[in-house]
Amino acid sequence: MNEHAHARVEKNVAAMAVLIAVAISFGGLAEIVPLMYQAETIEPLPGVKPYPPLQLAGRDVYVREGCYNCHSQMIRTLRFETERYGHYSVAGESVYDRPFQWGSKRTGPDLARVGGRYSDDWHRTHLNDPRSVVPESNMPAYSWLASAPLDAAFMQDKLRTLRRLGDPYSDEDIAAVTADLAGKSELDAVVAYLQGLGRHAPGTATNGAKP
Ligand code: HEC
Repeated sequence: MNEHAHARVEKNVAAMAVLIAVAISFGGLAEIVPLMYQAETIEPLPGVKPYPPLQLAGRDVYVREGCYNCHSQMIRTLRFETERYGHYSVAGESVYDRPFQWGSKRTGPDLARVGGRYSDDWHRTHLNDPRSVVPESNMPAYSWLASAPLDAAFMQDKLRTLRRLGDPYSDEDIAAVTADLAGKSELDAVVAYLQGLGRHAPGTATNGAKP
């Protein structure tokens, strides 16, 4: 394109907008199309299963309370990230995450590998009153979760819906929801969810590490 034609495009807003859209879509295609041909990006890693009902309920609370506004669940492929959190995140870990909890907003630490790092009691105390265990924390307290009940009927419907979307829940899984949630609070659910995070990451006993 000679200079004259380029100047004409720059002065024509509509043509400029169309050409920008075309240029950007090439970038998108270059990133997205190869993923469609990579089976491992949609295959769950060994051990990664659809969330059990209690963890799934905890995940709903996590999303509802906006924990993702301060916490990512995506470890980048950078040395200082993997030194701090563990193996970088891979797609096969998030197959059953709807919606995914990746992101880069980190007022608090990444939580992709937090499962097993603390005791259940630590999480309970921390969620109830973060500053009682981490004095300098600016995380809000979620003290009402302990007395908030879970809705088993809703979770059964949710499992059925997820099954329709392709998650392999069995009839037994759906029937077991009521027993799984009985007597549990939203706090129990969030703690179960947090404790499950990263259990089957690459480099764990299920995925590559020597026992
Ligand atoms: C306003 C920002 C903010 C929000 C919202 C928030 N957190 Fe945090 N969170 C933090 C900060 C800052 C820390 C680090 C200090 C601490 O441990 O309290 C933290 C730490 C944590 C830790 C410990 C992580 C580690 O590796 O030490 C967990 C677990 C956690 N948050 C869970 C949650 C959950 C669950 C929610 C939603 C119910 C939530 N957070 C909402 C800011 C936030």
